[in-house]
Amino acid sequence: MPADEPPRLPHLRPGEVRVAPSILSADFGALGVEIAGVTPATDWLHVDVMDGHFVPNLTIGPPVVASLRRHTQLWLDCHLMMTNPGDLLEAFSRSGADSASVHVELGQTEELCAEMRRLGLGVGLVVNPETPITAAWPFLELIDLLLVMSVHPGFGGQAFMPQAVGKVAAARREIDRRGLPVTLQVDGGIDATTAVVMAEAGARCFVAGSAVFHRPDHLGAVRAIEAAAMSAIAAPEGRGP
Ligand code: DX5
Ligand code: ZN
Repeated sequence: MPADEPPRLPHLRPGEVRVAPSILSADFGALGVEIAGVTPATDWLHVDVMDGHFVPNLTIGPPVVASLRRHTQLWLDCHLMMTNPGDLLEAFSRSGADSASVHVELGQTEELCAEMRRLGLGVGLVVNPETPITAAWPFLELIDLLLVMSVHPGFGGQAFMPQAVGKVAAARREIDRRGLPVTLQVDGGIDATTAVVMAEAGARCFVAGSAVFHRPDHLGAVRAIEAAAMSAIAAPEGRGP
């Protein structure tokens, strides 16, 4: 996408939700097959990038994103758990990432958002469990995606932290109050049960790793999470994306 055209996240209309399967829990030896398996149920794919420094785990980088790009048209939503994401934003963009999300805890958020925008990436901002949601408020006008973590980042398969629910509700209110086109995403311990709670609080994009790829029926798991979240949205009119 040319850098002078603003990127558009896969459009979420009021009352719609999306599941973003997280490949962290997929079989890394068969990623193409794993991704093809969930593709009929979504247009997002969550890619967890860990640098062994910001979080105590190491995963993948731009070369793997480039390989994924050759195998899928899904929106590659790259969650950068990195101390220095600015060093690799251009490489991720060149590799075919569609959006990148950086952690607000790092600081330099305005500069990082501007660089993502310049590169034509969708602009995401992530808030960790111990960080107040208000830390994101100064940047809401700059971003396309706000990700509220419901586990400590670094590993799949952790227990959902209920403290995140109030943060999602506060973020929903603030996004709607300002009338912003910001997609509210949640990540960590999301399954068909916790997706209901988070959807009621106002989340619309649900990252799910182990609840998808550690179940025998990956596609059915994506559809079940989506259906659960949809069932929780009682009054779609007027709700934000
Ligand atoms: C955790 C990652 C998540 C992870 C979620 O650091 O950011 O995206 O894949 O895994 P589950 O869904 O198993 O909690
Ligand atoms: Zn993630």
